Amino acid sequence: MKILLFGKGGQVGWELQRSLAPLGALTALDFDSAEYPADFSRPDALAQTVLSVRPDVIVNAAAHTAVDKAESEGELARVLNAAAPGILAQAARQIGALMVHYSTDYVFDGSGEQPWREGDATGPLNVYGRTKLEGEQLVARHCARHLILRTSWVYAARGGNFAKTMLRLAQERERLTVVGDQFGAPTGAELLADVTAHAVMQTLREPGKAGLYHLAAAGETSWHGYARFVLEQAQALGVALKAGPEAVDPVPARAFSTLAKRPHNSRLNTEKLRAAFGLHLPHWQDGVRRMLHEILTQK
Ligand SMILES: NC(=O)c1ccc[n+]([C@@H]2O[C@H](COP(=O)([O-])OP(=O)(O)OC[C@H]3O[C@@H](n4cnc5c(N)ncnc54)[C@H](OP(=O)(O)O)[C@@H]3O)[C@@H](O)[C@H]2O)c1
Repeated sequence: MKILLFGKGGQVGWELQRSLAPLGALTALDFDSAEYPADFSRPDALAQTVLSVRPDVIVNAAAHTAVDKAESEGELARVLNAAAPGILAQAARQIGALMVHYSTDYVFDGSGEQPWREGDATGPLNVYGRTKLEGEQLVARHCARHLILRTSWVYAARGGNFAKTMLRLAQERERLTVVGDQFGAPTGAELLADVTAHAVMQTLREPGKAGLYHLAAAGETSWHGYARFVLEQAQALGVALKAGPEAVDPVPARAFSTLAKRPHNSRLNTEKLRAAFGLHLPHWQDGVRRMLHEILTQK
């Protein structure tokens, strides 16, 4: 089996390189790969890459993920998040490949307190969300053999992340203020990549499993709860902090002005995915604890 991965250097793409490797021969590309054109800002060249590699599975982990920047880069965000995945989906259909694509809870308007289901009405609040919604619609329209996985609050040990920012601030300051009225589940890139590999294998065997799914770690928290948990774990691992978990104050999101409006409710209902693929999704604290152990105990 041949697999073609786009966005290999991103949080999820990096982990996909690991989880997809045992499934087949993997061609993993980034926007500047010399092997084949893979720059999403030049989407027309992507079809030729697909036709040259002729993979059985295309996995797209590339995206314009800078949510605030997207407000002033609407056209670039639309090309990367919608036009390019649409072209990949057309090429996937042409060669009969399965197309895997990632989307986001930002396709919803963030209202209410209930976890969003796949069939709920969408209503993105910002440019990033609108372009991601357009992207998933194009993928679904052009390639019936698709897995579209909507996720939320992604982190990875590699590169910057919210937990690392909180750790740095807690070493510099006596008190921290963190948003307490936005809710979701921090979801590890490792988990996304592992579930993707399972879902791909099962969908290749049972094509009826293709479709749109919500995928996030179990449980929920606010950014404030997430920050407190990170600092509790850091203290337990012996990290000296100026601001401990008790010195983190919750504030409403309106206390921070951001270019892009963000949803209050990022909770995702994952029943459909768990039932279709027979998978258990671990609690968000399990993955964050592991990630902290990795970054704080390995020097
Ligand atoms: N991060 C989150 O919290 C979150 C939440 C919900 C859903 N998602 C979705 O999950 C997926 C993976 O996200 P992630 O967190 O892994 O994002 P990420 O770390 O920002 O990775 C995105 C990847 O896209 C690449 N890229 C950027 N511009 C490109 C271009 N012109 N051509 C080709 N590749 C380009 C980036 O390359 P460079 O690094 O070289 O720029 C990077 O490898 C995306 O579909 C995202 O929308 C993410």
